[in-house]
Amino acid sequence: MKTIIEPFKIKSVEPIRFTTREERSELLKKAGYNTFMLHADDVLIDLLTDSGTSAMSSMQWAGIMQGDESYAGSKSFYRFEDVVKKITGLKYIIPTHQGRASEKILFFVVGGEGKYIPNNTHFDTTRANIEFTNAEAVDLLNEEGKHPEIRRHLRVIWISKNLRVSSRKKGKKISHSV
Ligand SMILES: Cc1ncc(COP(=O)(O)O)c(C=O)c1O
Repeated sequence: MKTIIEPFKIKSVEPIRFTTREERSELLKKAGYNTFMLHADDVLIDLLTDSGTSAMSSMQWAGIMQGDESYAGSKSFYRFEDVVKKITGLKYIIPTHQGRASEKILFFVVGGEGKYIPNNTHFDTTRANIEFTNAEAVDLLNEEGKHPEIRRHLRVIWISKNLRVSSRKKGKKISHSV
């Protein structure tokens, strides 16, 4: 078998605190099953966000030292803008420090009373930013997606059964392909 190693050296490491399954269950219970009420120190693998949580390369750290911190007209911004324009082909680039800040700006512009914003499943901050503008955040996830605990072939059976039941309830004959 081919051995694949990471194509980089890890220069710094941060220790993490290991918890047991029982401790995690207890901590979750105490937090009212609200992950925002957990202390980060108690979280072994944090999947709440991926923004800014991974290791930075030596070039990124070095880039910080070369950054132009001017309050306005920073040359770092123009360099960033050029690169992002080249990659995306977009005309206007507005950098934000976080995903939730981008959403705040976006839904301030496209949200509002009487608007519906569809998604497969809204991320928590996305939903909050949409609802803050009085627009409605609509999740369009199908029934199968709501049951990740069921293995795929079982899910197909489960869903076809439920589709038949709900079709019968509606008094309609519908053919489904799952
Ligand atoms: C749609 C969406 N909004 C917000 C976030 C959160 O990003 P941030 O932690 O940078 O606010 C993420 C990713 O984690 C995301 O996918």
